Amino acid sequence: MNPSPQGHIPVLATELVDLIGPQPGDVTVDCTFGAGGHARLVADLIGPEGTLIAIDRDPVARARFQEFQSTAKCETRFLALEFSDGLNVLQKEGIRADTVYMDLGMSSLQVDAAERGFSYSHEAPLDMRMDPRQELTAEVVLNEWPESRINQILRAYGEERYSGGISREIVRRRPLATTSDLVDAIKAGMPTAARFGSGHPARRTFQALRIAVNGELEAIDAALPAAWDTLKIGGRMAAISFHSLEDRRVKQFFAGLATGCKCPPDLPVCACGHEPEAELLTRRSITADETELENNPRSRSARLRGALKLGEIEGRG
Ligand SMILES: C[S@@+](CC[C@H](N)C(=O)[O-])C[C@H]1O[C@@H](n2cnc3c(N)ncnc32)[C@H](O)[C@@H]1O
Repeated sequence: MNPSPQGHIPVLATELVDLIGPQPGDVTVDCTFGAGGHARLVADLIGPEGTLIAIDRDPVARARFQEFQSTAKCETRFLALEFSDGLNVLQKEGIRADTVYMDLGMSSLQVDAAERGFSYSHEAPLDMRMDPRQELTAEVVLNEWPESRINQILRAYGEERYSGGISREIVRRRPLATTSDLVDAIKAGMPTAARFGSGHPARRTFQALRIAVNGELEAIDAALPAAWDTLKIGGRMAAISFHSLEDRRVKQFFAGLATGCKCPPDLPVCACGHEPEAELLTRRSITADETELENNPRSRSARLRGALKLGEIEGRG
């Protein structure tokens, strides 16, 4: 897959399109427009009778959408919102989609924009917001949150085994102002040998902070049911995730929908009468092949899952 004109290479793009199978005239919701790499492929398939509705909370994605719109082969629309809010707007308008997909995490546009503070490789202010309208920044987390809470997010969202030492060092060095200040605190907070292990020593802490600053897991928990409810019966939904915390949510969400009987296992006969709402399109997640792994290192941790909507239920809690 070639890079999009904007420099972000869409991950598992052919696999995503094969899974959701966009047809001419379809209504499709791209919940994470980014640089529009997936959207461009889908737009070509749904054609002039189709509509692609793009959502993204990052203003850079909105700018990319304007370029996309001028050449797209279908009707288009953009919602500059948190994806669950965008999906709720569509539901209130009575829009039902044939396909809905989300490509979670960050785009290369975000990582490569040094001044946004997502990258440990660039000197920048401690920002890390996908949506600059939001108040919470990484600087607030690092300089104002209690050490115990920082420790907790580094452990939970970064699976950082040296979270205790790193959070202690962060608090001791306050105020931190730049990504370099943070990288220095991380290195000082871990044993010397661990600094030279696999990958950059700051990778896990930066991931954890980004997830916390952007409320990424809460956003996914809200968006998965909203996306499902926006889908027509017979429609297809897919999600690409980049780490186990995301993938677990997607997997459990689809598995829950695909499960029929919800009775306790010790009940001899089904009393709930619950019918499955979904058929799994992926029993195991789809991952990148050798060629994609060679061409796009970002695809290394990508996992694609999807489901077909069988029917509506009332009052899912
Ligand atoms: C991996 S990129 C998508 C790349 C896109 N599929 C492409 O091919 O160019 C993820 C995008 O989702 C957006 N995003 C992440 N979480 C979001 C949320 N909760 N609400 C809205 N947009 C979100 C990010 O701003 C980013 O632009």
